[in-house]
Amino acid sequence: MADIPQPRRAVPHGGRLRAAAHHWRIPLQHWLDLSTGINPQGWPVPELPAAVWQRLPEDEDGLVMAMTSYFGTAPILPVPGSQAAIQSLPRLWATSRIGIVSPTYAEHARAWQRAGHVVREIAFEDVDRHLPVLDVLLVVNPDNPTGSLRPRVQLEAWRETLAARGGCLIVDEAFIDATPGHSLLADAGRPGLVLLRSLGKFWGLAGVRCGFVLGPQTIITALGEEIGPWALSHPARWIAQRALADVAWQAATRERLQRDSARLADLLVANGLASPSGCALFRWLPSSRAREFHAHCAQHAILVRHFPELPHTGVRIGLPPDEAGWDKLAAVLQGWQP
Ligand SMILES: Cc1ncc(COP(=O)(O)O)c(C=O)c1O
Repeated sequence: MADIPQPRRAVPHGGRLRAAAHHWRIPLQHWLDLSTGINPQGWPVPELPAAVWQRLPEDEDGLVMAMTSYFGTAPILPVPGSQAAIQSLPRLWATSRIGIVSPTYAEHARAWQRAGHVVREIAFEDVDRHLPVLDVLLVVNPDNPTGSLRPRVQLEAWRETLAARGGCLIVDEAFIDATPGHSLLADAGRPGLVLLRSLGKFWGLAGVRCGFVLGPQTIITALGEEIGPWALSHPARWIAQRALADVAWQAATRERLQRDSARLADLLVANGLASPSGCALFRWLPSSRAREFHAHCAQHAILVRHFPELPHTGVRIGLPPDEAGWDKLAAVLQGWQP
């Protein structure tokens, strides 16, 4: 069978389990969704007080303090998913030349193109060659879908070069919370640096639609105006405040994700599938037989994310949520002829 049809003109995404269930004619409840890089054991959301649903959110609700203790004191804006910032940030720049380290999360290029900028998608190794003519450089770290971690020292050097002439480095750190040592957080607030963070990946709260943008005050203020008042719902603010403050859960989750990611890499290798890169939340499997592999998994009700675009064809595989999921994945991998 061919791939699941995607909405026209939209960037394809993982997590479309209902479409997969319909396409492969397997009931929803049988599926194991490994098509996203979302932590399958997310932060446990407690019951919300009724007032949180009923009242407008207020800036003085304690979220600012929770953000400051997690992210530090740089100017920061909570947004309804880092995707909202991806859509809005390009509108803050006059027509610019933007380099996007690619292949990567396709929404970035789409948003900058839609806003009328000149977009160059460039390989990480070629950035130095292009940097002199760029106004903005965008890097996803760790990358999605390859999971590659970009050296902090290199990113900092590019920020400095760009900032010296009024340019900007944007780093999408949506997947970095399991490996915080790789973040540019220590430099947040410095000229020419914008960081994007998400509550959707490490915390596993993709449905809450909450993200954060850190950067120089001028950019944070302008973005706040662009996004408008009450953009983040009161329930999202309430949950974010508590999830950011739960340091014990964060420490245990970092350990578990590292362990599970290593387990996934080992399982793939044991079944003849080399996964040269990945991060704590998913592994990347480049393969000329990616379409076939995706179909093999789907026929057994496992949804992985297929990236058909050549020359980067491959699949991204997320972490199973429990032992039953690991067993199911192991059985399906054993049935694959690499
Ligand atoms: C690299 C990257 N950045 C940002 C996002 C947007 O995430 P959210 O809007 O849930 O914060 C995604 C979603 O998949 C992503 O892969």
